Amino acid sequence: MDIFEIHGGVPLSGSIATSGSKNSALPALAACLLTEEEVILEGIPRVRDIQTMEKLLAHTGADVIERNGTVSVTARRIERPEAPYEVVKTMRASSLVLGPLAGRTGRARVSMPGGCAIGARPINLHVAGLEHLGAVTHQAHGYIEARAESGLRGAHVKFERITVTGTEDIMMAATLAHGETILENAAREPEVVDLAELLVKMGARIEGAGTSTIRIQGVSRLHGTRHRIIPDRIEAGTFLIAGAITGGDLSVTSCDPAHLEALLASMRAAGVEISVESPAAIRVHPRRGPLRSVDITTEEHPGFPTDLQAQFLALMTQATGISIITENIFENRFMHVPELSRLGANIRIDGRRAMVAGPTPLSGAEVMCSDLRASASLVLAGLVAHGSTVLQRVYHIDRGYESIEKKLAGAGARILRKGEHDGAQRRVFEAGQ
Ligand code: EPZ
Repeated sequence: MDIFEIHGGVPLSGSIATSGSKNSALPALAACLLTEEEVILEGIPRVRDIQTMEKLLAHTGADVIERNGTVSVTARRIERPEAPYEVVKTMRASSLVLGPLAGRTGRARVSMPGGCAIGARPINLHVAGLEHLGAVTHQAHGYIEARAESGLRGAHVKFERITVTGTEDIMMAATLAHGETILENAAREPEVVDLAELLVKMGARIEGAGTSTIRIQGVSRLHGTRHRIIPDRIEAGTFLIAGAITGGDLSVTSCDPAHLEALLASMRAAGVEISVESPAAIRVHPRRGPLRSVDITTEEHPGFPTDLQAQFLALMTQATGISIITENIFENRFMHVPELSRLGANIRIDGRRAMVAGPTPLSGAEVMCSDLRASASLVLAGLVAHGSTVLQRVYHIDRGYESIEKKLAGAGARILRKGEHDGAQRRVFEAGQ
Protein backbone atom coordinates (compact mmCIF):
# COMPACT_ATOMS: atom_id res chain seq x y z
CA MET A 1 0.00 0.00 0.00
CA ASP A 2 1.30 3.45 -0.93
CA ILE A 3 2.30 6.03 1.65
CA PHE A 4 2.81 9.80 1.46
CA GLU A 5 5.87 11.45 2.96
CA ILE A 6 5.46 15.17 3.54
CA HIS A 7 8.05 17.67 4.74
CA GLY A 8 6.10 20.66 6.08
CA GLY A 9 6.87 24.35 6.31
CA VAL A 10 6.70 25.43 2.67
CA PRO A 11 4.18 28.21 1.85
CA LEU A 12 2.38 27.06 -1.31
CA SER A 13 2.55 29.32 -4.35
CA GLY A 14 1.39 29.44 -7.95
CA SER A 15 -1.82 27.70 -8.93
CA ILE A 16 -3.62 24.36 -8.73
CA ALA A 17 -6.32 23.31 -11.21
CA THR A 18 -9.47 21.60 -9.93
CA SER A 19 -10.67 18.34 -11.48
CA GLY A 20 -14.29 17.43 -12.24
CA SER A 21 -16.55 16.67 -9.29
CA LYS A 22 -16.48 13.05 -8.07
CA ASN A 23 -19.89 13.54 -6.46
CA SER A 24 -21.35 14.85 -9.69
CA ALA A 25 -19.71 12.22 -11.89
CA LEU A 26 -21.05 9.29 -9.84
CA PRO A 27 -24.79 10.06 -10.32
CA ALA A 28 -24.12 11.19 -13.91
CA LEU A 29 -22.60 7.79 -14.71
CA ALA A 30 -25.56 6.05 -13.08
CA ALA A 31 -27.93 8.19 -15.20
CA CYS A 32 -26.47 6.63 -18.36
CA LEU A 33 -28.44 3.46 -17.49
CA LEU A 34 -31.68 5.37 -18.23
CA THR A 35 -31.20 5.25 -22.01
CA GLU A 36 -30.06 2.75 -24.62
CA GLU A 37 -28.25 5.55 -26.48
CA GLU A 38 -24.66 6.71 -25.97
CA VAL A 39 -24.04 9.31 -23.25
CA ILE A 40 -20.68 11.10 -23.31
CA LEU A 41 -19.49 12.68 -20.05
CA GLU A 42 -16.54 15.09 -20.03
CA GLY A 43 -14.40 16.26 -17.12
CA ILE A 44 -14.66 12.95 -15.27
CA PRO A 45 -11.94 12.78 -12.57
CA ARG A 46 -9.65 9.76 -12.64
CA VAL A 47 -10.24 8.60 -9.05
CA ARG A 48 -10.93 5.14 -7.62
CA ASP A 49 -14.63 5.63 -6.92
CA ILE A 50 -15.22 6.54 -10.57
CA GLN A 51 -13.39 3.43 -11.74
CA THR A 52 -15.56 1.40 -9.36
CA MET A 53 -18.73 2.92 -10.82
CA GLU A 54 -17.51 2.29 -14.38
CA LYS A 55 -16.94 -1.39 -13.48
CA LEU A 56 -20.43 -1.52 -12.01
CA LEU A 57 -22.01 -0.14 -15.21
CA ALA A 58 -20.07 -2.68 -17.27
CA HIS A 59 -21.32 -5.43 -14.91
CA THR A 60 -24.94 -4.47 -15.72
CA GLY A 61 -24.13 -4.88 -19.43
CA ALA A 62 -23.31 -1.33 -20.54
CA ASP A 63 -20.39 -0.52 -22.86
CA VAL A 64 -18.05 1.85 -21.01
CA ILE A 65 -15.10 3.55 -22.72
CA GLU A 66 -12.86 6.01 -20.86
CA ARG A 67 -10.28 8.20 -22.60
CA ASN A 68 -8.48 11.13 -20.87
CA GLY A 69 -11.33 12.05 -18.58
CA THR A 70 -14.09 11.62 -21.17
CA VAL A 71 -16.31 8.60 -20.56
CA SER A 72 -18.74 7.15 -23.10
CA VAL A 73 -21.50 4.87 -21.74
CA THR A 74 -23.96 2.96 -23.93
CA ALA A 75 -26.43 0.83 -21.98
CA ARG A 76 -28.00 -0.75 -25.05
CA ARG A 77 -29.32 -3.66 -22.98
CA ILE A 78 -29.34 -4.12 -19.21
CA GLU A 79 -28.37 -7.78 -18.82
CA ARG A 80 -27.87 -7.74 -15.04
CA PRO A 81 -29.93 -5.04 -13.22
CA GLU A 82 -27.87 -5.46 -10.09
CA ALA A 83 -25.02 -4.05 -7.99
CA PRO A 84 -23.21 -6.98 -6.36
CA TYR A 85 -21.73 -6.90 -2.85
CA GLU A 86 -18.12 -7.12 -4.03
CA VAL A 87 -18.61 -3.78 -5.80
CA VAL A 88 -20.87 -2.00 -3.30
CA LYS A 89 -18.67 -2.87 -0.28
CA THR A 90 -15.93 -0.69 -1.79
CA MET A 91 -18.23 2.19 -2.66
CA ARG A 92 -21.60 2.81 -1.04
CA ALA A 93 -22.55 5.34 -3.74
CA SER A 94 -23.29 2.24 -5.87
CA SER A 95 -26.82 2.63 -4.45
CA LEU A 96 -27.14 5.36 -7.10
CA VAL A 97 -27.95 2.64 -9.66
CA LEU A 98 -31.05 1.59 -7.71
CA GLY A 99 -33.30 4.28 -9.18
CA PRO A 100 -32.04 4.11 -12.79
CA LEU A 101 -32.27 0.30 -12.90
CA ALA A 102 -35.80 0.32 -11.43
CA GLY A 103 -36.84 3.13 -13.77
CA ARG A 104 -35.37 1.57 -16.92
CA THR A 105 -36.05 -2.15 -16.37
CA GLY A 106 -38.63 -2.35 -13.56
CA ARG A 107 -36.13 -4.46 -11.59
CA ALA A 108 -33.13 -3.71 -9.36
CA ARG A 109 -31.07 -5.80 -6.97
CA VAL A 110 -28.49 -3.80 -5.04
CA SER A 111 -26.32 -4.94 -2.16
CA MET A 112 -26.97 -3.01 1.01
CA PRO A 113 -23.95 -0.71 1.32
CA GLY A 114 -23.13 -1.41 4.93
CA GLY A 115 -21.55 1.26 7.05
CA CYS A 116 -18.31 3.09 6.57
CA ALA A 117 -15.88 4.96 8.80
CA ILE A 118 -18.08 8.05 9.11
CA GLY A 119 -21.37 6.41 9.95
CA ALA A 120 -24.07 3.78 9.46
CA ARG A 121 -24.99 5.27 6.07
CA PRO A 122 -28.42 3.59 5.67
CA ILE A 123 -30.35 3.83 2.39
CA ASN A 124 -33.85 3.58 3.88
CA LEU A 125 -34.82 6.93 2.32
CA HIS A 126 -33.84 5.66 -1.15
CA VAL A 127 -35.99 2.54 -0.62
CA ALA A 128 -38.95 4.51 0.76
CA GLY A 129 -38.79 6.83 -2.24
CA LEU A 130 -38.93 3.91 -4.67
CA GLU A 131 -41.85 2.42 -2.78
CA HIS A 132 -43.69 5.74 -3.13
CA LEU A 133 -43.14 5.40 -6.89
CA GLY A 134 -44.88 2.01 -6.78
CA ALA A 135 -41.93 -0.36 -6.52
CA VAL A 136 -42.34 -3.44 -4.34
CA THR A 137 -39.16 -3.90 -2.32
CA HIS A 138 -37.75 -6.87 -0.46
CA GLN A 139 -34.63 -7.10 1.71
CA ALA A 140 -32.87 -10.44 2.09
CA HIS A 141 -29.34 -11.87 2.21
CA GLY A 142 -27.80 -8.38 2.36
CA TYR A 143 -29.55 -7.20 -0.79
CA ILE A 144 -32.41 -4.82 -1.49
CA GLU A 145 -34.62 -5.88 -4.41
CA ALA A 146 -37.07 -3.52 -6.07
CA ARG A 147 -39.67 -4.58 -8.62
CA ALA A 148 -42.11 -2.51 -10.67
CA GLU A 149 -43.27 -4.87 -13.42
CA SER A 150 -45.72 -2.36 -14.90
CA GLY A 151 -43.28 0.52 -14.46
CA LEU A 152 -43.01 3.23 -11.81
CA ARG A 153 -45.77 5.74 -11.13
CA GLY A 154 -45.25 9.41 -10.33
CA ALA A 155 -45.88 10.31 -6.67
CA HIS A 156 -45.38 12.97 -4.00
CA VAL A 157 -42.20 11.98 -2.14
CA LYS A 158 -41.34 13.91 1.04
CA PHE A 159 -37.88 12.95 2.34
CA GLU A 160 -37.84 12.57 6.15
CA ARG A 161 -34.41 14.13 6.09
CA ILE A 162 -32.37 15.73 3.34
CA THR A 163 -30.32 13.12 1.45
CA VAL A 164 -28.08 14.00 -1.49
CA THR A 165 -27.86 10.62 -3.25
CA GLY A 166 -31.41 9.82 -2.12
CA THR A 167 -32.64 12.91 -3.99
CA GLU A 168 -30.51 11.96 -7.01
CA ASP A 169 -31.63 8.31 -7.00
CA ILE A 170 -35.35 9.07 -6.88
CA MET A 171 -35.07 11.98 -9.32
CA MET A 172 -33.49 9.59 -11.85
CA ALA A 173 -36.15 6.93 -11.26
CA ALA A 174 -38.94 9.49 -11.66
CA THR A 175 -37.77 10.60 -15.12
CA LEU A 176 -39.25 7.39 -16.62
CA ALA A 177 -42.23 7.00 -14.25
CA HIS A 178 -45.81 7.41 -15.48
CA GLY A 179 -47.03 10.87 -14.44
CA GLU A 180 -45.68 13.64 -12.21
CA THR A 181 -43.38 13.22 -9.22
CA ILE A 182 -42.81 15.92 -6.63
CA LEU A 183 -39.74 15.60 -4.40
CA GLU A 184 -40.13 17.59 -1.18
CA ASN A 185 -37.28 18.36 1.24
CA ALA A 186 -34.92 17.61 -1.65
CA ALA A 187 -31.17 18.21 -1.41
CA ARG A 188 -29.99 21.49 -2.98
CA GLU A 189 -26.34 20.60 -3.62
CA PRO A 190 -24.73 21.79 -6.90
CA GLU A 191 -24.24 18.12 -7.81
CA VAL A 192 -28.05 17.64 -7.75
CA VAL A 193 -28.42 20.63 -10.10
CA ASP A 194 -25.71 19.26 -12.41
CA LEU A 195 -27.46 15.88 -12.56
CA ALA A 196 -30.80 17.54 -13.37
CA GLU A 197 -29.11 19.47 -16.21
CA LEU A 198 -27.75 16.22 -17.63
CA LEU A 199 -31.16 14.49 -17.35
CA VAL A 200 -32.91 17.42 -19.09
CA LYS A 201 -30.34 17.20 -21.90
CA MET A 202 -31.33 13.51 -22.14
CA GLY A 203 -34.97 14.52 -22.61
CA ALA A 204 -36.23 14.47 -19.02
CA ARG A 205 -38.70 17.10 -17.81
CA ILE A 206 -37.45 18.52 -14.47
CA GLU A 207 -38.07 21.82 -12.68
CA GLY A 208 -36.83 23.18 -9.36
CA ALA A 209 -33.46 21.39 -9.05
CA GLY A 210 -31.41 23.37 -6.54
CA THR A 211 -34.48 24.15 -4.45
CA SER A 212 -36.16 22.00 -1.80
CA THR A 213 -38.98 21.04 -4.18
CA ILE A 214 -38.27 19.31 -7.48
CA ARG A 215 -40.99 18.45 -10.02
CA ILE A 216 -40.43 15.69 -12.58
CA GLN A 217 -42.85 14.87 -15.42
CA GLY A 218 -42.20 11.26 -16.48
CA VAL A 219 -41.45 10.55 -20.16
CA SER A 220 -41.45 7.27 -22.08
CA ARG A 221 -37.76 7.25 -22.93
CA LEU A 222 -34.55 9.28 -22.67
CA HIS A 223 -31.89 9.77 -25.37
CA GLY A 224 -28.14 10.16 -25.48
CA THR A 225 -26.26 13.45 -25.04
CA ARG A 226 -22.88 14.97 -24.21
CA HIS A 227 -22.31 16.75 -20.86
CA ARG A 228 -19.38 18.30 -18.98
CA ILE A 229 -19.33 17.68 -15.22
CA ILE A 230 -19.05 20.64 -12.81
CA PRO A 231 -15.76 21.25 -10.96
CA ASP A 232 -15.14 19.50 -7.63
CA ARG A 233 -15.97 22.11 -4.98
CA ILE A 234 -14.61 19.91 -2.17
CA GLU A 235 -11.26 19.44 -3.90
CA ALA A 236 -11.13 23.19 -4.61
CA GLY A 237 -11.93 23.97 -0.97
CA THR A 238 -9.26 21.54 0.20
CA PHE A 239 -6.63 23.36 -1.88
CA LEU A 240 -7.79 26.79 -0.69
CA ILE A 241 -7.25 25.60 2.88
CA ALA A 242 -3.82 24.22 1.84
CA GLY A 243 -2.88 27.72 0.68
CA ALA A 244 -4.17 29.26 3.91
CA ILE A 245 -2.64 26.76 6.37
CA THR A 246 0.82 27.16 4.79
CA GLY A 247 0.53 30.97 4.65
CA GLY A 248 1.06 30.82 0.91
CA ASP A 249 -0.07 32.74 -2.18
CA LEU A 250 -2.12 30.19 -4.12
CA SER A 251 -4.72 30.39 -6.88
CA VAL A 252 -7.19 27.54 -7.28
CA THR A 253 -8.37 27.48 -10.90
CA SER A 254 -11.04 25.67 -12.95
CA CYS A 255 -13.38 25.93 -9.95
CA ASP A 256 -16.75 27.61 -9.38
CA PRO A 257 -16.60 30.21 -6.57
CA ALA A 258 -20.41 30.23 -6.35
CA HIS A 259 -20.24 26.66 -4.97
CA LEU A 260 -17.93 27.67 -2.10
CA GLU A 261 -19.64 30.64 -0.46
CA ALA A 262 -19.96 29.07 3.00
CA LEU A 263 -16.29 28.04 3.08
CA LEU A 264 -15.08 31.41 1.79
CA ALA A 265 -17.12 33.22 4.47
CA SER A 266 -15.61 31.07 7.26
CA MET A 267 -12.07 31.45 5.90
CA ARG A 268 -12.45 35.23 5.66
CA ALA A 269 -13.84 35.29 9.22
CA ALA A 270 -10.62 33.50 10.24
CA GLY A 271 -8.60 36.33 8.71
CA VAL A 272 -7.61 34.63 5.46
CA GLU A 273 -7.38 37.14 2.61
CA ILE A 274 -9.21 35.65 -0.38
CA SER A 275 -10.10 37.18 -3.73
CA VAL A 276 -12.29 35.78 -6.50
CA GLU A 277 -9.99 36.35 -9.47
CA SER A 278 -12.42 35.26 -12.20
CA PRO A 279 -15.60 33.16 -12.60
CA ALA A 280 -13.29 30.12 -12.35
CA ALA A 281 -10.45 31.11 -10.00
CA ILE A 282 -10.03 31.93 -6.33
CA ARG A 283 -6.80 33.25 -4.81
CA VAL A 284 -5.56 32.93 -1.23
CA HIS A 285 -3.14 35.77 -0.46
CA PRO A 286 -0.18 35.64 1.95
CA ARG A 287 -1.36 36.09 5.51
CA ARG A 288 -0.68 39.49 7.08
CA GLY A 289 -1.68 38.56 10.63
CA PRO A 290 -2.51 35.55 12.83
CA LEU A 291 -5.44 33.27 11.99
CA ARG A 292 -8.51 33.80 14.18
CA SER A 293 -10.55 30.91 15.59
CA VAL A 294 -13.95 30.47 13.93
CA ASP A 295 -16.88 28.22 14.87
CA ILE A 296 -18.53 26.16 12.11
CA THR A 297 -21.57 23.89 12.00
CA THR A 298 -21.97 21.51 9.06
CA GLU A 299 -25.31 21.69 7.27
CA GLU A 300 -26.83 20.67 3.98
CA HIS A 301 -26.09 23.01 1.06
CA PRO A 302 -25.90 26.01 1.04
CA GLY A 303 -24.59 25.60 4.61
CA PHE A 304 -21.01 24.68 5.51
CA PRO A 305 -20.31 21.34 3.74
CA THR A 306 -19.60 18.31 5.93
CA ASP A 307 -17.03 17.22 3.32
CA LEU A 308 -14.85 20.23 4.24
CA GLN A 309 -15.22 19.92 8.02
CA ALA A 310 -12.08 17.87 8.59
CA GLN A 311 -9.99 20.16 6.40
CA PHE A 312 -11.25 23.33 8.12
CA LEU A 313 -10.64 21.75 11.52
CA ALA A 314 -6.98 21.23 10.53
CA LEU A 315 -6.77 24.93 9.67
CA MET A 316 -8.23 25.86 13.07
CA THR A 317 -5.34 24.08 14.85
CA GLN A 318 -3.27 27.06 13.63
CA ALA A 319 -5.81 29.72 14.69
CA THR A 320 -5.63 31.78 17.90
CA GLY A 321 -8.39 30.83 20.34
CA ILE A 322 -11.01 28.09 20.66
CA SER A 323 -12.94 26.92 17.57
CA ILE A 324 -16.11 24.86 18.02
CA ILE A 325 -16.62 22.48 15.10
CA THR A 326 -20.09 20.92 15.09
CA GLU A 327 -20.77 17.96 12.75
CA ASN A 328 -24.51 17.64 12.18
CA ILE A 329 -24.62 15.41 9.11
CA PHE A 330 -22.71 12.24 10.07
CA GLU A 331 -22.46 10.58 13.46
CA ASN A 332 -18.77 9.68 13.38
CA ARG A 333 -16.87 12.19 11.31
CA PHE A 334 -14.02 13.11 13.69
CA MET A 335 -11.69 10.21 12.78
CA HIS A 336 -9.03 12.77 11.84
CA VAL A 337 -8.94 14.19 15.39
CA PRO A 338 -6.86 11.48 17.15
CA GLU A 339 -4.39 11.55 14.24
CA LEU A 340 -4.13 15.36 14.33
CA SER A 341 -3.51 15.07 18.08
CA ARG A 342 -0.54 12.81 17.31
CA LEU A 343 0.91 15.74 15.37
CA GLY A 344 0.44 18.00 18.40
CA ALA A 345 -3.05 19.49 17.92
CA ASN A 346 -5.08 20.33 21.03
CA ILE A 347 -8.63 19.08 20.39
CA ARG A 348 -11.38 17.78 22.69
CA ILE A 349 -14.42 15.92 21.35
CA ASP A 350 -17.81 16.14 23.04
CA GLY A 351 -20.39 14.19 21.02
CA ARG A 352 -20.98 16.05 17.76
CA ARG A 353 -18.68 18.90 18.75
CA ALA A 354 -14.91 19.21 18.58
CA MET A 355 -13.24 22.04 20.50
CA VAL A 356 -9.97 23.07 18.86
CA ALA A 357 -7.54 25.20 20.90
CA GLY A 358 -4.87 26.98 18.90
CA PRO A 359 -2.45 27.88 17.67
CA THR A 360 -0.45 24.70 18.32
CA PRO A 361 2.83 24.00 16.53
CA LEU A 362 2.53 20.64 14.76
CA SER A 363 5.43 18.20 14.52
CA GLY A 364 5.65 15.50 11.87
CA ALA A 365 4.76 11.90 12.75
CA GLU A 366 3.40 8.68 11.25
CA VAL A 367 -0.39 8.92 10.91
CA MET A 368 -3.14 6.67 9.60
CA CYS A 369 -5.73 7.58 6.96
CA SER A 370 -9.23 6.36 7.85
CA ASP A 371 -11.65 7.91 5.35
CA LEU A 372 -11.46 10.21 2.36
CA ARG A 373 -11.81 13.64 3.92
CA ALA A 374 -10.09 12.80 7.21
CA SER A 375 -7.09 11.82 5.07
CA ALA A 376 -7.17 15.17 3.29
CA SER A 377 -7.11 16.83 6.70
CA LEU A 378 -3.92 14.92 7.58
CA VAL A 379 -2.26 16.03 4.34
CA LEU A 380 -3.04 19.64 5.22
CA ALA A 381 -1.60 19.22 8.72
CA GLY A 382 1.51 17.59 7.25
CA LEU A 383 2.05 20.63 5.02
CA VAL A 384 2.46 22.82 8.08
CA ALA A 385 4.02 20.36 10.56
CA HIS A 386 7.73 20.64 11.34
CA GLY A 387 9.69 17.73 9.93
CA SER A 388 8.40 14.64 8.16
CA THR A 389 4.82 13.36 8.30
CA VAL A 390 4.14 9.91 6.85
CA LEU A 391 0.56 8.99 5.92
CA GLN A 392 -0.32 5.29 5.79
CA ARG A 393 -3.21 3.86 3.68
CA VAL A 394 -3.40 6.73 1.20
CA TYR A 395 -5.75 4.62 -0.91
CA HIS A 396 -8.47 6.42 1.06
CA ILE A 397 -7.37 9.68 -0.53
CA ASP A 398 -7.16 8.17 -4.01
CA ARG A 399 -10.90 7.50 -3.84
CA GLY A 400 -11.70 11.17 -4.23
CA TYR A 401 -8.61 13.20 -5.16
CA GLU A 402 -6.91 12.96 -8.57
CA SER A 403 -3.10 12.87 -8.06
CA ILE A 404 -3.29 15.12 -5.02
CA GLU A 405 0.43 14.77 -4.32
CA LYS A 406 1.36 15.89 -7.85
CA LYS A 407 -0.96 18.90 -7.66
CA LEU A 408 0.42 19.98 -4.28
CA ALA A 409 4.05 19.38 -5.34
CA GLY A 410 3.33 21.58 -8.38
CA ALA A 411 2.58 24.40 -5.92
CA GLY A 412 5.82 23.84 -4.01
CA ALA A 413 4.81 21.27 -1.39
CA ARG A 414 7.45 18.69 -0.44
CA ILE A 415 5.21 15.64 -0.75
CA LEU A 416 6.14 12.27 -2.23
CA ARG A 417 4.13 9.09 -2.86
CA LYS A 418 6.05 5.90 -2.12
CA GLY A 419 5.33 2.24 -2.33
CA GLU A 420 5.71 0.96 1.24
CA HIS A 421 9.05 -0.72 0.48
CA ASP A 422 10.30 1.67 -2.15
CA GLY A 423 13.73 2.92 -1.13
CA ALA A 424 14.71 4.19 -4.58
CA GLN A 425 12.49 7.26 -4.46
CA ARG A 426 13.73 8.12 -0.98
CA ARG A 427 17.18 8.95 -2.46
CA VAL A 428 15.53 11.17 -5.11
CA PHE A 429 13.46 12.85 -2.41
CA GLU A 430 16.46 13.43 -0.15
CA ALA A 431 18.41 14.82 -3.10
CA GLY A 432 15.50 17.17 -3.77
CA GLN A 433 15.27 18.38 -0.16
C1 EPZ B 1 -23.37 12.42 -0.28
O1 EPZ B 1 -23.47 11.21 0.46
C2 EPZ B 1 -21.91 12.54 -0.67
N1 EPZ B 1 -21.52 11.42 -1.51
C3 EPZ B 1 -21.05 12.58 0.59
O2 EPZ B 1 -19.70 12.78 0.20
C4 EPZ B 1 -21.49 13.77 1.45
O3 EPZ B 1 -20.74 13.77 2.64
C5 EPZ B 1 -22.98 13.65 1.77
O4 EPZ B 1 -23.74 13.54 0.54
C6 EPZ B 1 -23.50 14.86 2.54
O5 EPZ B 1 -23.28 16.02 1.79
C7 EPZ B 1 -21.89 11.43 -2.81
O6 EPZ B 1 -22.52 12.35 -3.30
C8 EPZ B 1 -21.46 10.26 -3.64
P1 EPZ B 1 -26.76 11.83 2.53
P2 EPZ B 1 -24.93 10.61 0.82
O7 EPZ B 1 -27.69 10.79 2.03
O8 EPZ B 1 -25.88 10.97 -0.22
C9 EPZ B 1 -28.61 9.95 6.43
C10 EPZ B 1 -17.40 12.36 0.16
O9 EPZ B 1 -16.57 12.57 1.03
N2 EPZ B 1 -29.36 9.07 5.52
O10 EPZ B 1 -26.98 13.25 2.12
O11 EPZ B 1 -24.73 9.19 1.18
C11 EPZ B 1 -27.10 9.71 6.37
O12 EPZ B 1 -26.74 8.64 7.23
C12 EPZ B 1 -18.74 11.75 0.51
O13 EPZ B 1 -17.25 12.65 -1.07
C13 EPZ B 1 -30.32 8.22 6.04
O14 EPZ B 1 -30.56 8.18 7.24
O15 EPZ B 1 -25.28 11.42 2.13
C14 EPZ B 1 -26.54 11.03 6.82
O16 EPZ B 1 -26.53 11.08 8.23
C15 EPZ B 1 -18.78 11.31 1.96
N3 EPZ B 1 -31.01 7.41 5.19
C16 EPZ B 1 -27.54 12.05 6.27
O17 EPZ B 1 -28.75 11.31 5.99
C17 EPZ B 1 -30.78 7.41 3.83
O18 EPZ B 1 -31.46 6.65 3.10
C18 EPZ B 1 -27.10 12.72 4.98
O19 EPZ B 1 -26.68 11.70 4.12
C19 EPZ B 1 -29.80 8.27 3.32
C20 EPZ B 1 -29.10 9.10 4.18
